[in-house]
Amino acid sequence: MRTKIVAGNWKMNMNASQTDQLLADLKQQNWPSDVQIIVAPTFVNLDRAASAVANSAINVSAQNMHQATHGAFTGEVSADMIASVGVNTVILGHSERRAYFHEDDTLLSQKVNAAIVAGLKVIFCFGEELSDRKAGNHFEVVKSQLEGGIFMLPKEAWSQVVLAYEPVWAIGTGETASPEQAQEMHAFIRETLSQKYDESLAESISVLYGGSVKPANAKEIFAGKDVDGGLIGGAALDAVGFAAIANSF
Ligand code: PGA
Repeated sequence: MRTKIVAGNWKMNMNASQTDQLLADLKQQNWPSDVQIIVAPTFVNLDRAASAVANSAINVSAQNMHQATHGAFTGEVSADMIASVGVNTVILGHSERRAYFHEDDTLLSQKVNAAIVAGLKVIFCFGEELSDRKAGNHFEVVKSQLEGGIFMLPKEAWSQVVLAYEPVWAIGTGETASPEQAQEMHAFIRETLSQKYDESLAESISVLYGGSVKPANAKEIFAGKDVDGGLIGGAALDAVGFAAIANSF
């Protein structure tokens, strides 16, 4: 049985007091016991978020990190710093990091390695752009993002990995992949994992879907047999809606 996961990527939203408020609201919700709930506030609020959710159903993730362990990298945050405030997960490879901060497969593979070595769990994001899908290259693009960014990991490291397929054209656009498109790609991802590693590894990895998931469409998306949950952006900023998504399996 794969772990079902609903993760909220708060992006660059929520200052300290807003973070406290949203976490307090989230703690009031009813969470299904068989779904792992994760929220990813911005770096400066990770410490308070980790304290706020201690002994609750909610787990905290970072949204990014630097690949080096420490040193002269002004403005950056290391895996060890994240772990040191009680946060055990990091999102890597989000399409906004790839597009706006020029993070390529080589850099991402270094970040993934650094996170794994530091003992963090990695939510590794990838997905094609609209032009790729229109050209019919979406499977190829996804495969090459996996090969370039995360397939250097040895089999043992995959117990620390969650994958998140996020077609770029569906992020923040209100446009969702259809449940069929999501399931089709998730099945392809699992098959690709099976070819690279083996079937039992492929069957064990949670693969999340991301891109305009909301309470109104979560159920049909999560119904896909290879869809193990979602990475939620905009809709994760509302406690009631986020809980409704988590209760959509
Ligand atoms: P969205 O974002 O749900 O607002 O489309 C998803 C994401 O970027 O992870």
